[in-house]
Amino acid sequence: MQRTPRVSIFTTPHDVARTLARRVAAALRENPRMVLGLPTGRTPLLFYEELVRLHADQDVDFSQATTFNLDEFVGLTAGHAGSYRTFMRRFLFEHVNIDPARTHFLDGAAADLADECERYEDSIAAAGGIDLQILGIGTNGHIGFNEPGPELDARTHKVTLRPETRSSNAALFGGDPASVPTHALSMGMGTILHARTAVLLATGETKAKCVERVVRGPITTTLPASLLQLHPDAELMLDEAAAQELDAPS
Ligand code: F6R
Repeated sequence: MQRTPRVSIFTTPHDVARTLARRVAAALRENPRMVLGLPTGRTPLLFYEELVRLHADQDVDFSQATTFNLDEFVGLTAGHAGSYRTFMRRFLFEHVNIDPARTHFLDGAAADLADECERYEDSIAAAGGIDLQILGIGTNGHIGFNEPGPELDARTHKVTLRPETRSSNAALFGGDPASVPTHALSMGMGTILHARTAVLLATGETKAKCVERVVRGPITTTLPASLLQLHPDAELMLDEAAAQELDAPS
């Protein structure tokens, strides 16, 4: 039996981005109504840049695609400069022909956050589920904002962000970790694992130790990404720097 997640190693972060963007373009040609789950953060920036390029050069058509972003900060209105909605607009949605009505976000400013999480789960179900969930990984092993802990929520929920997560998001808030919201809403691990296909992108040596544990370590809630070992169609797309610990003998 093939081990999951599969591991694909590319020379540079650009190679990772190009390969995934080409794959998404091909999948969109095959199924224009594809449902994509999308991450934010530094890692997917090159991938979004490639998608924008493929749209411009090869007419890749996003008009019927649907997207669901993984997470959003609590307390930020949609137009806030630090919101993930703003991030997605800036790096992808403004540059391709996606229908804004088909792009879905958690509303971190909703009056009732529990209702908002339920609404999101319902919208994913109504869209027929997620075909391809793209993920990044935190240096602490989180995916989405599912932070390491003694237990994990299965479904979309409110999370308390760990200090290291707030620090790594400081750039969106003028460089000050104290300005990063303390809480976020995130798809749960069950939501993520129900996607038909999951691809985790990891580039750079800061991710190497975590990646090694995701591939070789036990499944544990203290490393949420390790749960990808339970997914029948999960893949890690790594550059050489992120894969460097995999070369070491176990
Ligand atoms: C953000 C998200 C996070 C990031 C992770 C890695 O939507 O889902 O899990 O993917 O924090 O962030 P970068 O890519 O900035 O290292």
